[in-house]
Amino acid sequence: MSKIEPFKEKIFVTRPVLPALEEVTEKLREIWESKWLTNGGKQHFALEDELKEFLKVPYLSVFNNGTIALMVAVQSLRLQGDVITTPFTFAATPHVLSWNNINPIFCDIDEETMNIDADKIESMITPRTSAILAVHVFGTPCNVKKIQQVADTYGLKVVYDAAHAFGVEIDGQGIGTFGDISMFSFHATKLYHTLEGGALVFADKNLKQRIDLLRNFGIKNEEEVVMPGINGKLDEVRAAVGRIMLKYVESEQAKRLALHKVYDEELGNVEGITLMPKCGDNVKRNYQYYVIRIDEKVFGKSRDYVYDELKKYNVYTRKYFHPLCSDYTCYRQLNSSRQDNLPVATNIGKQVLSLPMYGELTADDVRKICAMIRSIDR
Ligand SMILES: Cc1ncc(COP(=O)(O)O)c(C=O)c1O
Repeated sequence: MSKIEPFKEKIFVTRPVLPALEEVTEKLREIWESKWLTNGGKQHFALEDELKEFLKVPYLSVFNNGTIALMVAVQSLRLQGDVITTPFTFAATPHVLSWNNINPIFCDIDEETMNIDADKIESMITPRTSAILAVHVFGTPCNVKKIQQVADTYGLKVVYDAAHAFGVEIDGQGIGTFGDISMFSFHATKLYHTLEGGALVFADKNLKQRIDLLRNFGIKNEEEVVMPGINGKLDEVRAAVGRIMLKYVESEQAKRLALHKVYDEELGNVEGITLMPKCGDNVKRNYQYYVIRIDEKVFGKSRDYVYDELKKYNVYTRKYFHPLCSDYTCYRQLNSSRQDNLPVATNIGKQVLSLPMYGELTADDVRKICAMIRSIDR
């Protein structure tokens, strides 16, 4: 095989979707003329309405980022004690619990979906447990049915970190309709974004008032501050960007779906490489990420070796989610962080690799990246 030339420019794991600049400047003019920049303006309310429809959820509050949104979700449900969660996630998930004086209890993950193993949750419940905080990792839905069953049996709340799951549906139902509250992140690297931003979605009408008060310092009116809230407001510029970006989601998804197919074709027959988990026909995916697993024993080289080799070709992949949250210095002393409690997560953490995935990537780029992986001497 002829030598594969490195890419001339660095290829990162993602690249933000950018709207046409003219569309943004037009909105900026509107905002400038209104002289209303934040604190619940026209763009903010319009975005909430548009997102509610897009995500097929009854209630929604936008936030300045997903982490603050998740902080408020935990506060709004008055969670305390211990919360069972996954170690295979971004730092924000367990940190939000710690910031609320709650102990994260790490439960092992499912071999196939890489989400919290719903069959293991029950064995981790104690009288201190107040909730389950599950993550739809890489947009693959959790076993929402089983999680709800366990929660109902033990009287626990369910919060979903749906940071990766924008637009995902199960049986035509928005992913945000499961559990008590779900959080979406609108960070710039996400399929849908508002530069920075996020949202909480929920079905309980009574939560709306509490969540919105918590988002705005607990200020009820000029005379009353009724709870220790935080500043979680999304400003008008980002809300306007979010409104524009909604128009780009479907075309970006279509481009990513086409690239998913190329990766599937090009890597499907490589021994030792496991592709993105498949979902049933009842799941509408969002194709945000493309993640593989490399089994060193079968492939012949480790994930870390592949990561280093690809760098030589100017391809910058990411080891999401390594290290596991349970291996962070702030959590590794927890009893639930023991490796014998987390055998599946420990193994997967050593194998996962996020490959470049964004609409501007071409099918030829993807073929070339796959050829680089296949050509690794092993
Ligand atoms: C799983 C997960 N949870 C939470 C967050 C935090 O969201 P934000 O960056 O919007 O605060 C992220 C990433 O950004 C994430 O990937």
